[in-house]
Amino acid sequence: MIPSRVTLVDVGPRDGLQNEKQPVSTAHKVDLVHRLQAAGLREIEVTSYVSPKWVPQMADNAEVMAAIQRAPGVRYSVLTPNMKGLEAALAGGAATRPDEVVVFGAASEAFSQKNINCSIAESIERFAPVVAAAREAGLKVRAAISCALGCPYQGAVSADAVEDVVRRLKDIGVQHCGVADTIGVGTPGQVQAAMERALKHFPLAEVSGHFHDTYGQALANIYACLQMGIHTFDTSVAGLGGCPYAKGATGNVATEDVVFMLHGLGIETGIDLDALVEAGGFISDVLGRPPVSRVGRALLTK
Ligand code: HMG
Ligand code: MG
Repeated sequence: MIPSRVTLVDVGPRDGLQNEKQPVSTAHKVDLVHRLQAAGLREIEVTSYVSPKWVPQMADNAEVMAAIQRAPGVRYSVLTPNMKGLEAALAGGAATRPDEVVVFGAASEAFSQKNINCSIAESIERFAPVVAAAREAGLKVRAAISCALGCPYQGAVSADAVEDVVRRLKDIGVQHCGVADTIGVGTPGQVQAAMERALKHFPLAEVSGHFHDTYGQALANIYACLQMGIHTFDTSVAGLGGCPYAKGATGNVATEDVVFMLHGLGIETGIDLDALVEAGGFISDVLGRPPVSRVGRALLTK
């Protein structure tokens, strides 16, 4: 039976904006977070503490975290690939402190090298102290496994490779496992096979899917996960996004499109679709282009 309630983690402010070449002002990023929480999102991936030389768009991470007016019940997460990132995320004290940090590895060796400049094994070694210190500081730790369904450099990625990383992440104390189709090539059967492997090591509530719509498979893949009872997904307002190290990766699946499907299935999300569509319209105007979200476009031009 499919779940009656689903949690969406809007990764637009981070995964969405990180790939934008034009600088987006801190004020616009903060405004986007405010609009998402006003629309009912209860989990928002706000920014990343990565090298500003690698991802300049996220250089204002601490400023964004300091400026958001937090709403009760909302969980704010940030990416922290190494101790330097975690230390920076904690340096500002309560004013900038996230509720959750995300370490991001890959199921593909080639992508691990391109994205975080180290092998999968080295990445796990790097994450271990980050996970320990984050948990010690009382933060929840989530992991994202990039290229779990295919890699732009290496091609096919096996379910065995996914499970291997899942197991290693579990061993170092990660609490939630996100399976990510960075280049959007996965199809529903393959997604279910990968998810089964994640579910061997993490409980249902701690496994999520992160789909990109590059090949138009994202909603079908989410539906395939719902059939397995999975009830947490990363989505991105207006379909923003891509990955700087995955050429041709289009946006993440749009939050609007997923909400429309879920509400149509009678599944609760706590999200007000109209307010969400407006948030998508807002950030698309900032970027000077229409939303990628099909639902966003349909409702904004109605
Ligand atoms: P590195 O070059 O291997 O690390 O970077 P290093 O320790 O040798 O440091 C090199 C320089 O970076 C030094 O500065 C460090 O201080 C600095 P320099 O001495 O040259 O001036 N540095 C940092 N600065 C700020 N914050 C930090 C940090 N760490 C080192 N945390 C690192 C390793 C991981 C940092 C680098 O490769 C990096 O930042 N990569 C960016 C990766 C990234 O953000 N990718 C996009 C996010 S992942 C994604 O989008 C996929 C996902 O959404 C899932 C999906 O979509 O499928 C999760
Ligand atoms: Mg993504």
